[in-house]
Amino acid sequence: MMMMMTVVLSAALLLLIPGTLTQSIKLLPIDVVVKTSSNDIDPLTFSTHVADRGILLGALNRLMDTNANFKFTYSDNPNFGPYLESVNGVAGNDTQHTYWKLQVKTADGKVITPDVGIGCYIPKANEQIILTFSKW
Ligand SMILES: *[C@@H]1O[C@H](CO)[C@@H](O)[C@H](O)[C@H]1NC(C)=O
Repeated sequence: MMMMMTVVLSAALLLLIPGTLTQSIKLLPIDVVVKTSSNDIDPLTFSTHVADRGILLGALNRLMDTNANFKFTYSDNPNFGPYLESVNGVAGNDTQHTYWKLQVKTADGKVITPDVGIGCYIPKANEQIILTFSKW
């Protein structure tokens, strides 16, 4: 009985993410840039890693675990998933119309605004993740 459950469980995991959970994870270098406003001339830049085909949220957690100068919080929105709330103690505020904007500078230098959040965005190697405290 136990044996059968193990087999079923492994098969389910394999269907979910072939290989990646049983092999060692390949890490890709990325940068995280924190801007306190859109015209912040002296933004903070942090180097970290994202798992190959892993989500940005994982990379932000890895960065927070390894660098005392970076911390963030997020909330779980029932419709949109993990939502970035604060970076380094600065929180977006609906009343003040502020939020943390997510942008990405791709390896070829183009700045894009992903249409998904930190829980769904899958960074590629050498991308720069730009978090900007912004008004709406
Ligand atoms: C948001 O801003 C308003 C107005 O300044 C303030 O009263 C409120 O406490 C803030 N909310 C949070 C969660 O910080």
